[in-house]
Amino acid sequence: MSNIGSYEEKYTSFHWKQAEDELQYGKNGMYNIGYYCSDYLCEKGFGNKQALIWEGFTGEVKNFTYDDLRIFSNTIAKFLQDNEVNVGDRVCLFMDKIPELYIGFIGILKMGGIAQPLFSAFGEEALFTRLDDAKTKVIITQKKHLGKVRRIKDKLPGLTKIIVVDADQSSLQTNEIHFWMEKTEQVDNFDIVKADPEMPSVLHYTSGTTGKPKGAQHVHASIIAQYITSKWVLDLRLDDVYWCTADPGWVTGTSYGIIGPWVCGVTQVILDAGFGTEKWYAFIQKNKVTMWYSAPTAIRMLMKEGLDVVKKYDLSSLRHLASVGEPLNAEAVIWSEKAFGRPFYDTYWQTETGAIVITNFPGLKIKPGSMGKPFPGITATVLNPKTFEPITTAGTVGLIALKPGWPSMMRAYWDNKETYDSKFKNGWYVCGDRSSIDDDGYFWFVGRDDDVINTAGHLVGPFEIESALIEHEAVAEAAAIGKPDPVNMEVVKAFIALKPGFEKNDDLELGIINFIRKRLSPLAMPQEVEFVPSLPKTRSGKIMRRLLRAQEWGEEIGDISTLEND
Ligand code: PRX
Repeated sequence: MSNIGSYEEKYTSFHWKQAEDELQYGKNGMYNIGYYCSDYLCEKGFGNKQALIWEGFTGEVKNFTYDDLRIFSNTIAKFLQDNEVNVGDRVCLFMDKIPELYIGFIGILKMGGIAQPLFSAFGEEALFTRLDDAKTKVIITQKKHLGKVRRIKDKLPGLTKIIVVDADQSSLQTNEIHFWMEKTEQVDNFDIVKADPEMPSVLHYTSGTTGKPKGAQHVHASIIAQYITSKWVLDLRLDDVYWCTADPGWVTGTSYGIIGPWVCGVTQVILDAGFGTEKWYAFIQKNKVTMWYSAPTAIRMLMKEGLDVVKKYDLSSLRHLASVGEPLNAEAVIWSEKAFGRPFYDTYWQTETGAIVITNFPGLKIKPGSMGKPFPGITATVLNPKTFEPITTAGTVGLIALKPGWPSMMRAYWDNKETYDSKFKNGWYVCGDRSSIDDDGYFWFVGRDDDVINTAGHLVGPFEIESALIEHEAVAEAAAIGKPDPVNMEVVKAFIALKPGFEKNDDLELGIINFIRKRLSPLAMPQEVEFVPSLPKTRSGKIMRRLLRAQEWGEEIGDISTLEND
């Protein structure tokens, strides 16, 4: 029997207040996520239980109990306070998947800071844009990433301290301070900021089509949704060994890689190493993973390696599997049944929604290829793209939209009210994706409704890539689009028009690629470059990426009436 029991019954009867009560959210005036992920579990008698089993890329293993988590997060919280970090200050986590990242996240929340996790593979330009936008006060990082921070720190007057978790003070410069989590004097009692349910907690940056990346700002009350979705969708139980493969630089890695599993009191395992089929299977076998939350690109990479390699490992511990971030194709669901004896359950949500909103549930029939149904407490529909009225005919494609009001919905885009307001139409939050709904109420994802590129489950804004490209002296104009890819779903392709006096050739292409490599994350790097005489534009001068994309995907070009030279 799954945790949720009957979906239909829960969908009609559930109210968020029930999850709040079950979690005892607000007991003794306490609303802080940091408390509910550590001290709360210790008070319930799980202090000696493993909270985190971490494995580094060299095979080194570290274990942390819930009591360790409580004490180390206290220690970090106190250290931040001692370094003049105040309630509401943004503290960036810029690290690989090391224990300090996970525990530091809890520490920041405990002292009332706003955690701003950023993917450690980001180039300096991507890092700068996000720190500058958030006016980040402190960054916590590792020696290996310090170079990037040093190259931009002079342009960030608000960045007062750089905390380095693995360096001796002697190797550091002014405003850089070392902090060894396990060697610093431990803080057993810390006065956790009680918080308010609406107090800002996490700031996650996400890419849009135009302009800078946007900081989706979440609040402490988000834990109510993260808790109950972890319980009902991920089906987490106290005896689970849970593995979320996402990096906390992205929302899956915090909502379900930190908050969800820890508030549910499970043991979570982390592998700080890249993808490797056999490495992954060996990790599941060794740790007896029972619940595995991953992404379609990883599943497609596993599929490529075939079933024989699966048989070399004992993966019988796996009880439940789920996936997020991109469309999960029906073949992947069917393959996983053959490979692991159970399907991957597709889950749909976004940085902005903070928690799973449309999904497949244990106990509810899966229709392979469908994202499933709305979570209890979520009213979801598809809207007519012109009138923004709900579409009532089954099978008709429209814009996925949600009725605002669930606890983990973002409360703002940081310092960007205009863009935030533009996401709401007719009282609906419009997700920016297209889908249809079938007669049984299942959602079938069709695609994004904008030019954002989804490569291997990571959203990449074309604007960032284009901005980096046009900084090169030879580039007159540039456009970036997603091109089909069998494993990553999409990879980045760049179209470049050169300035007069420059000739296309391999050396120039390499020069441009090397030039942008420093600025962008590896994910955003174009896999293909095409030189063109000019780019198609609308009469108002906007690049028509839609047209370039349609050519790449072999699709109908559609309405080109606004094209400049038609
Ligand atoms: O386009 C949808 C796609 O990923 C977007 C959200 O990306 P992000 O904010 O980075 O958060 C990713 C992890 C929650 C969505 O707007 N997406 C997410 N899940 C699915 C999906 N596309 C298809 N199927 C999904 N299950």
